Amino acid sequence: MSNNIVVAIDGYSSCGKSTLAKALAKKLHFIYVDSGAMYRAVTLYFLRNKIDLHSHDAIMDALKNIHLNFHSRDYQTHITLNDEEVSDEIRLMPVSENVSAVSAIREVRHEMVRQQQRMGKSKNIVMDGRDIGTVVFPHAQVKLFMTADPYVRAERRYKELSPNNPDISLEDVFENLAHRDYQDTTREESPLTRAEDAIILDNTDLTPDEQLQFAIDKITPFLKK
Ligand code: DC
Repeated sequence: MSNNIVVAIDGYSSCGKSTLAKALAKKLHFIYVDSGAMYRAVTLYFLRNKIDLHSHDAIMDALKNIHLNFHSRDYQTHITLNDEEVSDEIRLMPVSENVSAVSAIREVRHEMVRQQQRMGKSKNIVMDGRDIGTVVFPHAQVKLFMTADPYVRAERRYKELSPNNPDISLEDVFENLAHRDYQDTTREESPLTRAEDAIILDNTDLTPDEQLQFAIDKITPFLKK
């Protein structure tokens, strides 16, 4: 049996999950997997190929033709979709506006979860997303559930997005986040919810270093075993 360590980080959009996950992976020399990037890359493929979200056959066919790969450079997410680097394009508004609908599709989730579980089979891994502690790795040694004030989250995301999206407003970002929270928490297929054994981390008033220390303290007992 494999005794690798899995750290599952779930929470609302733009709560700083990936910032913390990357910092943790770097500090502990774990593999970092951004599961949201996978749903985003699938969404990009669906948009480009005008896949009918109500057609089971079209979705299954599309999933067969999608090959995703991560390339870790300096613990930043570099993801390829059929060998094309799409790391920047998956952050743009067309994908952000459609990713909740695509990630609510049962067939899409089954395929992504299968791939994610394979990645965490034998290596120490930090994975962030919405269902990592509940569905993908229900036996993860450490589960964090991140949350923060919605306005603080919108401001953070706006700062991140505005350089590549000059026409975007803070209001657009706030509304997009609220919409995604609603869809993520109310969808039928593995909605965003806190695993019973997940530790809540509200980072509204915490610096990145404070969050990192909080998480390291939770993981350290498992490193010593
Ligand atoms: O973390 P993010 O904002 O890049 O995620 C993009 C979308 O993907 C988000 O709206 C919810 C969805 N998602 C999901 O349903 N399950 C995951 N494990 C990760 C992301």
